[in-house]
Amino acid sequence: MSDASHAHEDPVAQAQARYRQIYNNEPRWVVAAPGRVNLIGEHTDYNGGFVLPMAIERRTVLAAGPSSDRNITLHSSRMSEPATFELVDPLPKGEPTWTNYVRGVIAGAQQRGVKCDPFHAVVESSVPMGGALSSSAALELATATLIEAMTGHRFDPLDKVLMCQKAEHDYAGMPCGIMDQYISAKGQPGHALLIDCMSNEAKQVPLDDPDIAVLIANTNVKHELTGSEYPTRRKQCETAAAAMGKSLLRKATMQDLLAVQESIDEVVFRRARHVITEDERTVAAAAAMGKRDWARVGQLMYESHRSMRDDFEISCSELDVMVELAEAIGDKGGVFGSRMTGGGFGGCTVSLVKADQAQAISDRMAAEYQQRTGIEPTLFVSRPAGGATIVTAASGEASGAGSEAASD
Ligand code: GLA
Repeated sequence: MSDASHAHEDPVAQAQARYRQIYNNEPRWVVAAPGRVNLIGEHTDYNGGFVLPMAIERRTVLAAGPSSDRNITLHSSRMSEPATFELVDPLPKGEPTWTNYVRGVIAGAQQRGVKCDPFHAVVESSVPMGGALSSSAALELATATLIEAMTGHRFDPLDKVLMCQKAEHDYAGMPCGIMDQYISAKGQPGHALLIDCMSNEAKQVPLDDPDIAVLIANTNVKHELTGSEYPTRRKQCETAAAAMGKSLLRKATMQDLLAVQESIDEVVFRRARHVITEDERTVAAAAAMGKRDWARVGQLMYESHRSMRDDFEISCSELDVMVELAEAIGDKGGVFGSRMTGGGFGGCTVSLVKADQAQAISDRMAAEYQQRTGIEPTLFVSRPAGGATIVTAASGEASGAGSEAASD
């Protein structure tokens, strides 16, 4: 599928309709949190480095109401059966495994003394699963936002992000950095976000040039990060930092790395080279983006892809094919740059393209990718979207930070 029109069904209306169908009532709370695409800055977050993601116009919605028993019940349209579990304190991990994103966030809130009552909820999402677009962070942030809507409590914004990241670590077993949860919480329409993952401070970078479009191409090769590759990369980065006497790779320069090259493993050297150069590229890309220097941003994206492919070794043949196709269309055909995005080993590429050529580029990439791999890809464009929000809540409850006017 190739669609550069921004058209897709918003899951808010779907979740509300499904809730009515199941519970014969209006949902009392509706919340939403977006997925993200990372424009540049990969595997830098857990090294204290820089990342430049944007929230996308694909989101996960929870439509919920109070339950009369002691259970939490979740209906996801992606699962055949609803999941039910008792709301105990502390809430442990459990089955089915996808509920651990919800359980982990509720447990984090409990630890902070924020207790919600039992509820039932419908989960609808337009974020593809396993597509490296942070479907799990979107579910975590939606859950944290639902707790805010239900209890009236407002988490400290950074603490909310950290609570969701911890849920991912402890309940989903994925030792992620902070990027996905951060951008799902703090995305702003018309902006990418330059996050400094050492200070946890961030700067909004305008990305609202009407002539530019962000084209996301899902290879439809699922990425699975809870395997050993991601934790192995983290360890290799720590090993490199330790060899240079640094607490984080962010604090190391290429000079520091070259000074220890002879004494460290060749693979560890390349891993660190990716991270150190990726940090430089990310800061440079944010600066170029601020000046609308799209040719420069695009060039940095290609370099980033090569570094991930050759030094960090997190790409796969399908991602490489998708980037090659974009590069072959090139600037004459309206493509400024392209790279794989997210954790790696599958999922999506992100390309910066001319808006008026986006549909043609998307069609061509889709056709040629399918021809070369035999897999039908999914391509779509997205503008930078806003972060997690309360969409509707019973009167009074939606007031305060992060609420959105009731949609339909
Ligand atoms: C996953 C993790 C992030 C980040 C990226 C790679 O998405 O959740 O924290 O490390 O991979 O940049």
